Amino acid sequence: MLKLEPFIEECRAAASATDAEKAVRELVAEAVSDPAGVAAALREPEHAGFEVLHRARDLTILNFAWAPWMCFKPHNHAMWSVVGVFSGREDNVFWRRTANTIEAAGARSLGMGDVTVLGRDIIHSVVNPIGKVTRAIHVYGGDFFVPPRPRSEWDPETLVERSWNLGDSKRLFLQAEARSRIPD
Ligand SMILES: [Fe+2]
Repeated sequence: MLKLEPFIEECRAAASATDAEKAVRELVAEAVSDPAGVAAALREPEHAGFEVLHRARDLTILNFAWAPWMCFKPHNHAMWSVVGVFSGREDNVFWRRTANTIEAAGARSLGMGDVTVLGRDIIHSVVNPIGKVTRAIHVYGGDFFVPPRPRSEWDPETLVERSWNLGDSKRLFLQAEARSRIPD
């Protein structure tokens, strides 16, 4: 079973390593190679959203719970990140900037035990393609809530860039959760 405090300490040490992303990736990969052990170590989420496991200037660790069939708008992080899925599935679409907007450039579907590293300037959107909550550990190379430079999101319909809005992002989780509870 994952031991949370040692995991956080190891991630803190890795974050100050020369190749921090790679070092953190290895730690997250090792953790989610035992999905049941991660699930047992973390609180079962009552709601879709994210729980802060660790927050510092150089490192944030979040326990993510994507609502069933949830779609999350394109956004960047302005810092590297590592995603490790330990339950369900997280479909990522990767986007690249064009002259005035963004265009889809690739995709990666992450299932239980899969890990990916997102570079500092990556733009992605996320879909949970299944009818149950998807759970993942997300580690960020900075303070997720106070990025070192302005973070952007893109309107999911028009793909027009705008400033990242944390409150709107939190609302999307609650709306998606509410929709998933509508009876058939
Ligand atoms: Fe993201």
